[in-house]
Amino acid sequence: MKPTTVLVLMSAGALVLPGTSFAVNPAAGAAAWIQEHPQPDASQARSCTSCHGRDLTRPGRHVKTGKVIEPLAPSVNPRRLTDPKKIEKWLLRNCRWTIGRECTASEKADFIGFIKTQ
Ligand code: HEC
Repeated sequence: MKPTTVLVLMSAGALVLPGTSFAVNPAAGAAAWIQEHPQPDASQARSCTSCHGRDLTRPGRHVKTGKVIEPLAPSVNPRRLTDPKKIEKWLLRNCRWTIGRECTASEKADFIGFIKTQ
């Protein structure tokens, strides 16, 4: 488990991480959420919305398997963002698949900061 995630999860009010050089930026997370990442093999561009959609209060649909994904928004799905291990696991996997690399600690914090507001 990365300390950054824990700090983001625990900071209830201002999303500023003590001891780090960056502040969590939910607006940046929102922008990154819909950013399209073209694929070199000319298949469809990928974004977080490919599986989770734009409205996080609604269920998503896995672009490869077609399986329904429960809403990510904690406002309608209180189990979301409660398990740091699960968050790290899926951010690792989803960043690699969507963006083609692992996300930085700052990017992950922004994504979580954004999802938290939904
Ligand atoms: C290929 C489909 C797919 C894409 C694209 C995708 N995800 Fe996911 N994501 C999943 C699946 C599947 C799960 C785990 C199933 C579940 O929790 O319902 C998941 C789970 C998560 C979780 C765990 C939430 C929790 O606490 O339960 C987070 C956070 C997350 N995704 C963020 C992202 C971000 C950020 C992006 C874009 C960089 C992204 N996802 C792109 C399929 C996807």
